[in-house]
Amino acid sequence: MSNKRTVAVTGATSGIGFAVADLLAGQGFRVFVVGHSQENCAAAREKLLAAHPDAEIACFFGDLVHQREVLRVAAEIREKLARDCGGELYGLVNNAGCVRSWYMTSDEGYEQQFALNHLAGFLLTLELMPELKKASGRVLFTASNSHRFMKMRWNDLMLQRGYNPLTAYKQSKLANLLTARAFNRRFGPEGVTFYCVDPGLVNTGIGCKNTGYLVNFIWSARRKRGREPEMAARTYLYLLEGAKRDGLYFRDCAARRHSPEVCDKNALRLYEISLKLCGAGAARAEGAG
Ligand SMILES: NC(=O)c1ccc[n+]([C@@H]2O[C@H](COP(=O)([O-])OP(=O)(O)OC[C@H]3O[C@@H](n4cnc5c(N)ncnc54)[C@H](OP(=O)(O)O)[C@@H]3O)[C@@H](O)[C@H]2O)c1
Repeated sequence: MSNKRTVAVTGATSGIGFAVADLLAGQGFRVFVVGHSQENCAAAREKLLAAHPDAEIACFFGDLVHQREVLRVAAEIREKLARDCGGELYGLVNNAGCVRSWYMTSDEGYEQQFALNHLAGFLLTLELMPELKKASGRVLFTASNSHRFMKMRWNDLMLQRGYNPLTAYKQSKLANLLTARAFNRRFGPEGVTFYCVDPGLVNTGIGCKNTGYLVNFIWSARRKRGREPEMAARTYLYLLEGAKRDGLYFRDCAARRHSPEVCDKNALRLYEISLKLCGAGAARAEGAG
């Protein structure tokens, strides 16, 4: 076992997540590529090793929309950490995300953008909390400036009444900030620190995966105005390297103001609801974490 620090990155097979994994591998971190499919993970690993022949890369894959898959991937990561990394997880980047055109649900019946963009990171973080605590680790969520234009729909979190995909996306990104805030309150005193990153508008394929014609068309035009993922990735390295930074929400390596909706009251409310939505296992992990 080398003494490299381990960082797990979800959604590391393309776009922002891949650029983060690439930067981290180049800086000597051991990188856990967490992807959707085995095929995309293998391709990402091959590209990373071609660029950084000495890198230590391990792959984990699953459809993180569904909680049983999140739990399985978390168990595999824990097992690998215990076997080869001293049981320590230095960093977790909750970055996997999706856009949908229609109301679609996870196996548990949760709207898919809420399930992947919010609940998957929430549950994975709780599941890996003992390993993060052991390393006094850092957890990053890929949020978005779009959280500013949203309030949580407390009475209809899955947006079943008059589904609007953009509203669902914005709510899931507001949920990232609320979660980071709640986790800082709950686990900050135990040495784990939580941040959110606004990557800006980035030229990736997110709006063209599993979406219909209209979303596909709009995103294909919009992404052309986006920056390259490598530029967004620098802020992740800034938050993972060196001393811990003051602040919750970062863009371009600087702390930024977030929406006033990101307050303790809302953070705690979402935290309690999310624990319930993630079931008894999450409540146990929270207690043990
Ligand atoms: N692009 C932007 O302008 C922008 C702006 C603000 C925030 N963000 C956020 O940035 C994050 C990364 O997005 P991106 O723009 O880099 O898009 P991307 O290239 O499509 O990356 C998304 C990643 O998530 C993975 N993923 C998708 N569905 C999954 C599932 N069900 N289970 C497990 N993994 C899954 C994808 O794997 P596959 O490709 O194999 O499905 C891919 O690795 C997202 O959270 C997004 O909301 C993006």
